Amino acid sequence: MIRKILLVLLVALIVIQFIPIDTDVPEVEASKDFIAMTNPPQEVSIILKQACYDCHSYETVYPWYSNIAPVKFWLKDHINDGRKHLNFSEWGNYETKRQNHKLEELMEEVGEGEMPLDSYTWTHEEARLTQDQVNSLVSWVKNGPFISTK
Ligand code: HEC
Repeated sequence: MIRKILLVLLVALIVIQFIPIDTDVPEVEASKDFIAMTNPPQEVSIILKQACYDCHSYETVYPWYSNIAPVKFWLKDHINDGRKHLNFSEWGNYETKRQNHKLEELMEEVGEGEMPLDSYTWTHEEARLTQDQVNSLVSWVKNGPFISTK
């Protein structure tokens, strides 16, 4: 019985390897990109690129394990969800109010250590932010790219 169950699981594991995920990288309109539009200091743009852009932009770099099920489904889910909530490649298409709101959220999420996701920093050492990096990102956002709506 146990052997049968294991065999079924093994076959299932093999079969799901053939289910593709969409790893297309949509074309980016450079002028609508967050970094291009807000022009942060280099230190900040490096943090954003290294720790956020994989999930929050169209410039995702898919790692080798994005070929392996079931991990790849979980990973793709994070990317879809991340882009849906905040997509730096679509920044120029956001209304000002939405931009400001996302910036508030950004300071909060990063300040509280919620972003980048832990599951991401396990495998992306360069995305583990030091307190200094958190501070420079948050203080830049605080003083930088808000747009007055008054
Ligand atoms: C592994 C993918 C991943 C990485 C890397 C990542 N995020 Fe996220 N982020 C998500 C997902 C998924 C959500 C939506 C679910 C949630 O809030 O947990 C999210 C939500 C957010 C939100 C909330 C947006 C809203 O609508 O309220 C902000 C702000 C945010 N992320 C900023 C960042 C910043 C800044 C970085 C880099 C320092 C980062 N994230 C890195 C996946 C990621």
